[in-house]
Amino acid sequence: MKFSRRKWLVRSVLCGGAFAGLGCGATEKHRLSVTRTDIPLDPRHAALDGLKLALMSDFHHDDYGNSRLIRRAVETINNEGVDLVILAGDYISSDSVGIAPLCEELSHLSPRLATLAILGNHDRRHAALIRSSLEEAGATVLVNEAREFPEFAVAGPDSHCGRLGDLPRTLGGIAPEKPVLLAWHEPDTFDLHDDPRIALQVSGHTHGGQICAPFYGPLLLPKYGKKYPYGLYRRGPASLFVTRGIGTLKIPVRFLCPPEVAVLRLVG
Ligand SMILES: [Fe+2]
Repeated sequence: MKFSRRKWLVRSVLCGGAFAGLGCGATEKHRLSVTRTDIPLDPRHAALDGLKLALMSDFHHDDYGNSRLIRRAVETINNEGVDLVILAGDYISSDSVGIAPLCEELSHLSPRLATLAILGNHDRRHAALIRSSLEEAGATVLVNEAREFPEFAVAGPDSHCGRLGDLPRTLGGIAPEKPVLLAWHEPDTFDLHDDPRIALQVSGHTHGGQICAPFYGPLLLPKYGKKYPYGLYRRGPASLFVTRGIGTLKIPVRFLCPPEVAVLRLVG
């Protein structure tokens, strides 16, 4: 009898912990965080010194998408006074119903230079609609393309899933000495290049794990998002920043991994 009672107590505590975790996670997915990070530049990329960019990713707006959260993220970015906004893909999970309300919110972004968008693995099925909707919202969409500015270029390969990304083609037309910001949805592609023009790669895809365990970290990470799950990494003259993104996929919960807008300042 004593043993059964103890067993019941342990089970109750475990179940209570799980429900409390789910409750916190359901709330946490609405709690927008802003991460401000300085990215150190190699001297060869000095032309980027002082550039400030905002990074948003992984909206999954058809999958428990929250337009109010996107509105807060857009207002936050506009208040930061950034030069560029980079949207790093996965606007929806699979249903195109989320594209219009998402792009309505994104149309209010007002960076000094441009809003640039790339596609993620979930965007492939509705790529044409996503591209036209983002362009109507004021973004320049890069699919194995680059946009050149006087001092630098932003390059956007297609998703690495399905091997759609073509980096040589994307970088092909950029001048040999021009520093490049590379936006590639899947972060593990950081290992696929060593072009000295690339100063910074920005990625999403991982959601930072979306659900993390205390003292352990992300419990589940996607293919091409396992080696670099979140944050700033450095290799030689190049840096990689991976954002946790905004939305949720499959389970409408984030735990120890709140939605994020990243504001990155490049410093020489
Ligand atoms: Fe993704």
